[in-house]
Parts: sequence; C-alpha cells; structure tokens
Amino acid sequence: MLWPKTATRDVAGQLVIGGIPVPQLVAEYGTPLYIYDEATIRAQCAAYREALARYYPGPSRIVYAGKAYLSVGLLRLVVEEGLWLDVVSGGELQLALAAGFPPGRIVFHGNNKSEDELQLALEAGIGAVVVDNHYELDLLERLLRDTRQYLAVLVRVNPGVEAHTHAHRKTGQVDSKFGLLIETGDALRAVRRILEMPGLRLRGYHAHIGSQVFELEPYVLAVERLFDFAREMAARFGVVPEEISPGGGLAIQYLPDDPALDIEAFVQTVAGAVQRAAQKARFPLPVLGLEPGRSIVGPAGVAVYRVGAIKEIPGVRCYVSVDGGMADNIRPALYGARYTAVLANRDGPADSVVTIAGKYCESGDVLVDGATLPEPRPGDLVAIAAAGAYCLAMASNYNLALRPAVVLVREGQARLLQRRERIEDVLQREVGAGESSESLAAVELPTPP
Ligand code: LLP
Repeated sequence: MLWPKTATRDVAGQLVIGGIPVPQLVAEYGTPLYIYDEATIRAQCAAYREALARYYPGPSRIVYAGKAYLSVGLLRLVVEEGLWLDVVSGGELQLALAAGFPPGRIVFHGNNKSEDELQLALEAGIGAVVVDNHYELDLLERLLRDTRQYLAVLVRVNPGVEAHTHAHRKTGQVDSKFGLLIETGDALRAVRRILEMPGLRLRGYHAHIGSQVFELEPYVLAVERLFDFAREMAARFGVVPEEISPGGGLAIQYLPDDPALDIEAFVQTVAGAVQRAAQKARFPLPVLGLEPGRSIVGPAGVAVYRVGAIKEIPGVRCYVSVDGGMADNIRPALYGARYTAVLANRDGPADSVVTIAGKYCESGDVLVDGATLPEPRPGDLVAIAAAGAYCLAMASNYNLALRPAVVLVREGQARLLQRRERIEDVLQREVGAGESSESLAAVELPTPP
C-alpha cells in the first residue's frame, strides 16, 4: 500500500483522501499540510490484531511506537484500537499523560533515561520500563529505595542480529548504543540485579533489530536469541519470561516497486518462531509483544505542498521548489530516503521528470529526486505518499520554519489534529522579542567611523 486506502481521484482529477478532495483541505488548512487517513490507521491496527488472533494462540500486545508520529488526536485512535504505547522520552510520556492515555498501557524505552524521566514514569504508574543499561538500574535502585512501589521491567537485550537497513536505523548489531549485550554478561548481570531489587518485577525480554526492515529472517533469529537467553536465565535463576518482544521495524512501501507491506506474513513468521522456541524451552506461551510504529501511521499519511519557483537548467534538471522540505521531512537528506509524488490538484500524463526541492537553505534539501509528474506549474499541489511516519516526528524549526498543520480525515469529515505552528509560538521563547526592555530597538546604533 503506497497511498492511504481511501485515496482516489475525482472526476476533475483531484486527489481525494478520506472522501475529501485535497485542494479543499488545502483551502481550509493551507500548505504544507499533513493529512492522515483514519481508515488506514485503523486498518493497520486491525491487520496486526487479526494476524495475532490467527497465528498466535497465546496472549499478545501491540505497542504503538509513538516516536513515529505522536499527537493527542492520534492517541485517541491508538486507545480505541486497543494498542499500548511506547514512549522514549519524558516529553512523549507527558504528551500521552496530557492526552489521558492509560498509564498502565505505556512502555518506556530509551538508552539514556534521566532520573527525572524515570521519576515521572514511576509517579504516573506506567505499565513497564524497558531497561537498557546498568546506569538506568542504578537510578531505579535509588528512586525505588524508600518506596513500596513496584515497577515491571523488560530487559532490552542486544541480540547481535544484523538487520539489512540503513546504518542509522540498525539497532540489533553488537556495535550499538542500544541494549544489554549477552556476550559480555551485561544482560545476565542486569537480570540478576533486577531479581535482587525488591521494587522491580522482571516481566520479560525485549529486542529491536532496526527499522524499515524488509526481511523477516532477522526477526526469527532475534526471537531465537531472546529465547536462548531466557532459557539460560531460567536455568540460573528459575525465572520464566511472561513477555517476549522482538520490537518493531517492519518496512513499508515508499516507491511503487518496493515490496508491499505484509503485516500478516510478519506476524505469522514471528508468532511461529515464538511458539517453536517456547515449546523447545518448555515455557508456557509468553505475551508476544509487537512494537510497530511506521507500519501503523506511515501509509496513512500524505504530505501536501504548493509549488512555487521552477528552475529549468537545460540538459541538467528541473528544480520544482515547494513550500516545505527538510524542516518537515528530513528523511531524504538524512537517509537518502525516496518518496513517490503526484500532483494533487489535477491529473494527467506523468510525462515530466523533475526534482522536487524544499525551500530551506541547503542544497541537500530535496524531497524527491526524479519525480515523474504532469509538468508542474507554480500553484500546483504536490502530494507525497507514505509521509505518516518519522516526518513530523523529526520536524524542526530550521530557517524558522513553522511546523505544518495536521488533519485527520474520515468519510468526508476533517478534524484538525495539530494546528499550524505560529510565529508567536517560536517568538515566545525568545528573550528580548517584542516590547520587552531587552528589545534591540532600545540599542543605540554605533555611528560609522
Ligand atoms: N521499538 C523500538 C525499541 C524502536 O527503537 C523503534 C524505532 C520501534 C519500536 C518502531 O520501529 P518502526 O516499526 O517504526 O520501524 N527515524 C528513522 C526511524 C527510527 C526508528 C527508531 N526506532 C526513519 O525515519 O527511518
């Protein structure tokens, strides 16, 4: 699935999502605009749920990785679909709590959680912390010392498995900042410490091998590694894991030729591996935890920009500049990520090859190199597919760009999830802006020599 499942063209050739023509949404909310299709998000959640029901006879848990895209409005869908939430910072945790997300369904990840963040997690009574290192255990030891509180933890094991994805997105190989290594004994020592700490309850083991991973084999290996480790811990300490989580990372389609996203095959493979390994270890079937982010929101999101300046360099290329770019989607610049673009306001033969450039001061600010479109004109709308994950989540104020508006569409209705950022939002944190006594208007200008 490249476009949201409701995406279609109307008789005028306009792109329609969730029953609303994109130009109509743009007229109301402006550009750049991120549009999320509710039906697609719900369908992705349902695909995970149904596949688990079909292929995994034990208990299971789908934990949405909020780092892919987080907003209060999105969390409503996450809750309604019965998913848990993975947060990776105090900020994400606070947003979830502000939204009223059930704390008992929140899992906290991260390779350098601060004392304040852990304190907040304890006060909120979150579902589990995924322990990543011994420093974190030191902090938890201190925080829990004088309380009677219990905290469920999973141990994040580095499984030593290579996922074939961009180097910046690999996490499961030995040389990684994430997770406790089995080889060095760090993971074992963490388990021992957790079992000795009265405030901690060891729930199980977690691994995450990377993101935008196309192959399923590394997941099987990761599951096997987790169980090998779990068996060793059972032999040494008599603990049987209640939960096993091979993380998230399933790849989605960005280009028409990419393999299609197959949630069912992914779940079937992982569920099979867990069942085989549990049987071999003579463990009861654990809770199978899955942690998808990109595959839940990625295909549901479409980014829409307006075309401005067009620069044709004869014999070289044609730059079509749009009113967004790396400030709202840094993925092409950061990972060489590739996207599919179409015109949203009209249709026609895609007979021109252009470079869709962003508007920010950097030559690398190119959204799509080699897009095939009907020849674009200033004022046209460009829509980019599969923009729902890790675009807004990684957005910045580079060049003092204002973050885009986000709407959720469903059956002809649009709901604003996040309003467009305003210059006031940005100026608010500037000391000396506006009327204050620190304003530069009060500075006496030096006289030229
Ligand atoms: N669980 C853990 C522990 C993770 O670190 C991640 C992603 C996920 C689950 C969700 O993975 P997903 O299903 O979304 O692939 N900024 C990069 C992706 C970074 C992924 C970070 N961790 C990108 O834009 O491709």
